[in-house]
Amino acid sequence: MKGIVLAGGAGNRLFPTTKVYSKQLVQLYDKPLIAYPISVLMLAGIKDIIIISDANTNELYKKLFGNGSHLGIQISYERQEQPNGIAEAFIIAEKFIGKDSVTLILGDNIFYGKLDFLRNAIKYNKGATVFGYHVKDPQRYGVVDFDENGKVLSIEEKPIKPKSNFAVVGLYIYNNDVIEIAKNLTPSARGELEITDINKEYLNRGDLEVEVFGRGIAWLDTGTPQALLEASTFIGAIEHRQGLKIACLEEIAYLKKYISKSEFQEIIDSIPQCSYRDYLVDVIKNEHLFTKY
Ligand code: G1P
Repeated sequence: MKGIVLAGGAGNRLFPTTKVYSKQLVQLYDKPLIAYPISVLMLAGIKDIIIISDANTNELYKKLFGNGSHLGIQISYERQEQPNGIAEAFIIAEKFIGKDSVTLILGDNIFYGKLDFLRNAIKYNKGATVFGYHVKDPQRYGVVDFDENGKVLSIEEKPIKPKSNFAVVGLYIYNNDVIEIAKNLTPSARGELEITDINKEYLNRGDLEVEVFGRGIAWLDTGTPQALLEASTFIGAIEHRQGLKIACLEEIAYLKKYISKSEFQEIIDSIPQCSYRDYLVDVIKNEHLFTKY
C-alpha cells in the first residue's frame, strides 16, 4: 500500500499567510499542519509516502522531512503545477503507485481517534473505500446518500441541496484501477479533476464501500482562520490534558519500531532545546509509561 499526501491548493482563505507559504505548513497548535495527515498514514502502517504540492512548496517539505529515512519511512515528492483537482494526484503519482493500491489523504485534513477503522479498511479494501462523517454544513463537501439499509445511493460534489448530512472526508483508499479511472476523467465545471467523479465511477462499477465514522472519531477542517483556531484548540486541549502529543512523527516512528533507540536518540540530539525535544527525551526515558498506539 502506497500513501499520497496531497498538499496543493492556493489556500486563498488563509491569505495573507498563504502569500508566503503553503497552508499545510501553517502551525496547528505545536507542529506544522502536514504532520497530522502524515501521522495518520504512518499509524496505518504505510511507509512509502509521496507528498504532492506546487513547485515552491515542494522544496519546503523536503527541508522538513528529507527522504523520511530518519523516521524509518520513505518520502518522495512530486509537483502539481496547477490546481487541477485532487484526482490528478493519481496521474502525477502513477509511477510511484506502480501496481500497488493507494491511500490518499488531503494535507489539511485532521483525524483524531482510534485508527482501527483505517487499518481494517486498508486490509479489506477491494475497489474503493471512502468514509462518511456527519456534519452540519454538508454543502461544502462531497456528500454521500444512503438508503435505510446503508446502501449508497449517490455521491455528489458540493451539492446546493445535500441529500444527507454525511460529508466524504479527505481520506480515500483505492485499488490500482484508480490510475486508469483518473486518466479518463473530464474536468468539472470548476475546471478540476474531481475525486468525487472517481468515487462515482467505483460506485457505478459496484466497487465502492462507504464507511460511516462512529462518534468516537473527530474529523476537523482547517480551511479558514476560525477552523484553524478551533482545530488548534482541540488538539491543544487534549495534548495539555494528557501530556501526550498527537501526530508527533518522531514518537510514532520510535514507538511503532520504524526506527531503533539509537536512531531516535540521534533525532533528539539534533533538535534544539525546546518543549518538543523535552517531550521526546521523556518518551525515550520512560517509554513503558507512554500509551501505545
Ligand atoms: C475536497 C473534495 C470533497 C471532500 C473534501 C474533504 O473538497 O472535493 O469531496 O469532501 O475535499 O475535505 P475541496 O477541498 O476541493 O473543497
